[in-house]
Amino acid sequence: MEKTTILDLQRMKDEGQKITMLTAYDYPTARILDSCGVDILLVGDSVGNVILGEANTLPVSVEAMIHHTKAVVKASESSLVVIDMPFMSYQISIEDAKRNAGRMMKETGVEAVKLEGGAGMEDTIRAITDIDIPVMAHIGLTPQSIHRMGGYRVQGKEDKQREKLLTDALSVERAGAFSVVLEAIPSKLGEEITKRLKIPTIGIGAGVRCDGQVLVINDLLGLSGEFRPKFVKKYVNLEEIISKSVKEYISEVRSEAFPGDEHSFH
Ligand code: KIV
Repeated sequence: MEKTTILDLQRMKDEGQKITMLTAYDYPTARILDSCGVDILLVGDSVGNVILGEANTLPVSVEAMIHHTKAVVKASESSLVVIDMPFMSYQISIEDAKRNAGRMMKETGVEAVKLEGGAGMEDTIRAITDIDIPVMAHIGLTPQSIHRMGGYRVQGKEDKQREKLLTDALSVERAGAFSVVLEAIPSKLGEEITKRLKIPTIGIGAGVRCDGQVLVINDLLGLSGEFRPKFVKKYVNLEEIISKSVKEYISEVRSEAFPGDEHSFH
């Protein structure tokens, strides 16, 4: 099976074909998503809050990202794999950003890295793409800036913020990003940015007019408990299915209905 490339993603935008992206953090999930034909698997730093029980993405280390990404890369035959650069792995200096991006690519086998930030990250994105590491940008609600934003809030509602986001989008494109995630912004702004940019936009809470969509896999599968922002669509309630199965198992072990004859050696 052929691997999706960043050139395929550009062609998809140019031909009006929608791009699908989902997060993945482990081998079995990545294997299923890859076999379903998802275009991009993102090993998000959301691994912190989604998988590791952290309050937010800030504590996630480069080592944790590499650990999870190695498993996802092993499972992906056709999906392009993108690794998130975690908090403080690219903000200190451009040299540091290049070193960490290179290390993350070299040790995992991913095809691209993702980092958060707009105009302020233009030089960093340019420096990483200049050493041939494809960069996906991420603007709008950027979870690593949670304390500056005062929480997970929709961005770009006011004119000034809207203008700033347009500038951010144009900056990351100019810097050489091959794609940009637009998170939690009004749909009209998502559409405007998508029309203004040549590179594909991938939306999460940015409306249907983006070139593609991304969701956190645990949210889509109903494995995120009560957490449900407006932009999440829960396609199945796996938490309910898992609980039912585990309760059945407990009951059968206690009643000696399991293991039955068919699960025993003779
Ligand atoms: O870390 C993540 O999962 C992300 C997506 C929400 C885009 O950045």
